[in-house]
Amino acid sequence: MIENPRRNVHILGIETSCDETGAAVVRDGREVISSVVASQIEFHQKFGGIVPEIASRKHLEMLNPIIDEAMAKANLAYEDLDAVAVTIGPGLVGALLMGLGSAKVISYVKDLPLVGVNHLEGHIYANLIDHPDLKLPLVSLIVSGGHTMLVYMEDFGKYEVLGQTLDDAVGEAYDKIAAFLGLGYPGGPIIDQMAKDGDPHAIPFPRAMMKTGDLNFSLSGLKTSVLTYVSHLNLDARELPLHDLAASFQAAIADVLVAKTIQAAKDKDVKTIVLAGGVAANSYLRERMIDGTKNEGLELYYPHAFLCTDNAIMIAVAGYYRYLAGDRVSLEANPIPNLKLG
Ligand code: KG4
Ligand code: ZN
Repeated sequence: MIENPRRNVHILGIETSCDETGAAVVRDGREVISSVVASQIEFHQKFGGIVPEIASRKHLEMLNPIIDEAMAKANLAYEDLDAVAVTIGPGLVGALLMGLGSAKVISYVKDLPLVGVNHLEGHIYANLIDHPDLKLPLVSLIVSGGHTMLVYMEDFGKYEVLGQTLDDAVGEAYDKIAAFLGLGYPGGPIIDQMAKDGDPHAIPFPRAMMKTGDLNFSLSGLKTSVLTYVSHLNLDARELPLHDLAASFQAAIADVLVAKTIQAAKDKDVKTIVLAGGVAANSYLRERMIDGTKNEGLELYYPHAFLCTDNAIMIAVAGYYRYLAGDRVSLEANPIPNLKLG
């Protein structure tokens, strides 16, 4: 079990790695006292994806009001906090810089320890809110807009990356396909919804790297297949079977994710599987993972949808463990856009 000595520790978490500005106060790494997330989606939507300059500017505008709101909702003074935890990477450098700058100011002015958190470990730790007794070791499938990887977590702060995408992240593939089909941004929730009325067996899209024997992924071939399929239909002036296409696209991804996640658990002789990241909110992936893990006698965990997508709760939870371990970053610390796990 992940140990949780109850110490009445309050951590303010700050998240700005991508396009959500988040601040949250969490007690003892489990109890959410307050959480505020400002999404920038509407500002990026018309560009069909995230524009880094806009992201930085919006973080700058939103950080102070969001942090104030989180503190007010928590009904706490800065003096009641034990530390400030902030995402230091991976992510967009300008976006990370905004959150880190705010956290440094609070740390300096209020004389609070500054804790740096890896955004990806944050995604895994989001699970502790819904599953406080989560058992270690575990294998986590992290599927987000920027990452797709299988991670073996032996202990807190001890990660081994077992495999990852060689090209696009799963969330990125969802977003690109949705943009191509003119469905909107972000594509994940839209395709998730459309697929509910479609047949996952309708179109035989490729299951990339299914038979390679390793734990890596590739999404670019699937993306090309979808584009080719749609182009041919357009040439023949045939109507797009959007629901079947969405369902078949998801099925091609889920087949590989489920197979490789189970393989990773077997390789590591681990019984606990944890889903993390924005795509872990996907209803079809969850269903397929539930079935797949049940057949193999594995225990599956995933957080509520609002804890899957970027938020500051997960940063405060991971920050709590780093705080207890004595991990600190200095006021001279810089963001690390390509920060690795493990
Ligand atoms: O974890 P996240 O909020 O940000 C990153 O760290 O990247 O993940 C965002 C990604 C986006 O690509 C979005 O389309 C995807 O998660 N996503 C989903 C769903 N909800 C969000 N993908 C599939 N199904 C969903 N329900
Ligand atoms: Zn994320």
